[in-house]
Amino acid sequence: MSTLTTRDVVVVGAGVVGLSVAWRASTRYGLAVTVVDPAPGRGASHAAAGMLTPVSELQYGEESLLELNTESARRYPAFAAELADASGLPSGYRTCGTLAVALDADDRAVLKDLHAYQERLGLSSSRLTSRECRRLEPMLSPAITGGLHVDDDHQIDNRRLVAALLAACERAGVTFVRERVERILVTDDRAHGVRLANGRDLSADQVLLAAGCRSALIPGLPPEVVPPVRPVKGEILRLRVPPVMAPFLSRNVRGVVKGGSMYLVPRADGELVIGATEYERGHDTETTAGGVYELLRDAHELVPGVTELPLVETLAGLRPGSPDNAPIVGRSSLAGLVVATGHYRHGILLTPITADTVAEVLALGTTPEIIRPFGPDRFETVAREVMA
Ligand code: GLY
Repeated sequence: MSTLTTRDVVVVGAGVVGLSVAWRASTRYGLAVTVVDPAPGRGASHAAAGMLTPVSELQYGEESLLELNTESARRYPAFAAELADASGLPSGYRTCGTLAVALDADDRAVLKDLHAYQERLGLSSSRLTSRECRRLEPMLSPAITGGLHVDDDHQIDNRRLVAALLAACERAGVTFVRERVERILVTDDRAHGVRLANGRDLSADQVLLAAGCRSALIPGLPPEVVPPVRPVKGEILRLRVPPVMAPFLSRNVRGVVKGGSMYLVPRADGELVIGATEYERGHDTETTAGGVYELLRDAHELVPGVTELPLVETLAGLRPGSPDNAPIVGRSSLAGLVVATGHYRHGILLTPITADTVAEVLALGTTPEIIRPFGPDRFETVAREVMA
């Protein structure tokens, strides 16, 4: 049995990327959009911490990504306000700043180098002594030796964001199909829809592939246009701060602990998110005792009081990593196929800019300047050469 439904766009994947583009494409441009996902919002978007920290999480050699990240952070307040209006739900956007702290001399040297790099790029951050760090966050360990404060790095509650996007999409008339996509339909060098696991076909003028790290697994596409994404597992913990212990932390705390980095993200409602491990072990989403131990051990070194808090949830998600750690967004060389994946550690941060730009690609066919360096073509050429 096969039913054909014609839409302007079928979106494969209902994480924050697929949902936000669907919402924008529908409300800003009036496109008829169907989103297909067996469990909307339950992938990496559900597991994330929601840090909006382009300056604190700056990596060497990623200057062009920094521009995209900071522009997306700049758009967040308006995006969150508009989404709250459209959905009737709070999006959990919180302007709290971020404090990165160091334990030993090596960790402090890492922060010193990061600060110098941030200054060279004209980014605002200030180095703090141990005492200044503890004045900002009294629950920090006395063993902290120094820190780096970034006033403009904030957070959003990723789960509230997902809920608001789902509600906004529904209000905007986006159709949801809670099914697995079995293949992308391609005929005469054009993507024109998807086949669902239940055997139905959905046809559309354009297909948006936004299935996170599963984007590389969906059959049907010519090999050179399959986005080269891989799963990068992250384990994360959710704890609860009892009202009597609040405010436990007032801002995001990033820790450099013996060379590695981790973070604690305190929500206004008392949730405390601690993350995240990083492993490349395929599509496994099991939480390991070792991962939980590592996170709690490091969190306890930075903020000893964490071990007194109730542990509410342990979870693992799969970040969609790309070969250069930057997102893959824009029109592919296959007619009818647009891609939005590979956001790696920055999917939540990059949601507003991805929504705005990819909706424009779908609706107007134009590619905004800011996403040009991140188009799928940068990998398609390599794939063609490898296959030749
Ligand atoms: N953005 C934080 C993480 O991916 O763990």
